[in-house]
Amino acid sequence: MKIIEAADYRSMSRKAANIISAQVILYPRSVLGLATGSTPVGVYQQLIEWYDKGDLDFSGVQTVNLDEYYGLKPDHPQSYHYYMHTNFFDHVNVPAKNIHIPNGLVRDITAECADYDRTITVLGGIDLQLLGLGNTGHIGFNEPNESFDKTTHRVALKQETILANSRFFDDPKEVPRFAITMGIKSIMRAKKILMVVSGIGKADILEKALFGPVTPLVPASILQLHPDVTVVADEDALNLMRSHGLS
Ligand code: GLP
Repeated sequence: MKIIEAADYRSMSRKAANIISAQVILYPRSVLGLATGSTPVGVYQQLIEWYDKGDLDFSGVQTVNLDEYYGLKPDHPQSYHYYMHTNFFDHVNVPAKNIHIPNGLVRDITAECADYDRTITVLGGIDLQLLGLGNTGHIGFNEPNESFDKTTHRVALKQETILANSRFFDDPKEVPRFAITMGIKSIMRAKKILMVVSGIGKADILEKALFGPVTPLVPASILQLHPDVTVVADEDALNLMRSHGLS
């Protein structure tokens, strides 16, 4: 695992965007696994800036998103469809047919999840998966205590996650209680993983994830077992890492 320290959020975003850019420049037909949450917003902004300058071309790229709230329409301002379009897709040239995000409105969740996994397989698997880190140590929406062995499935969100995500909703009661997420197994199948982490509020859970025991209680801890993980984090998020030999 590589841990890259950035001075601040902006620098974290640029470093992570550089890694994604390198992937797209070297392999223009890459399958990118994409993430939501507040942390990757700066990464998307940086990629858009380089795209505007003509340095990046996403026309051959396929994208698969990690997760979506269950029950939110794609045009709901807090849906991950809406997030991805407003923060990224509306500004770059990923063809619409190459964009894949779980459908949070389906009745037959089992079929939707199986379909989503099939899509990833047909695309040849994920080349580079971008991840944020939830306050509970979740990745995607894989909450603590879930089996490491799951592919795409529906999850009940933990109260702590509902609370953390309620900051984006006008009325906290509107926060969905369920989501569809790629499972840990789907995430671990990605060839490369890039996790971005920012802020002092994540320092404790980041240390547990990277240096604590590998346990479903801290879903991100499974990343210790992946052969190609890069974590780009700012100084605040790495605050508790000094004892682990990080300068
Ligand atoms: C949500 C998303 C995760 C994300 C997490 C952290 O729960 N499903 O993919 O990593 O939020 O979000 P933030 O970056 O806003 O702290």
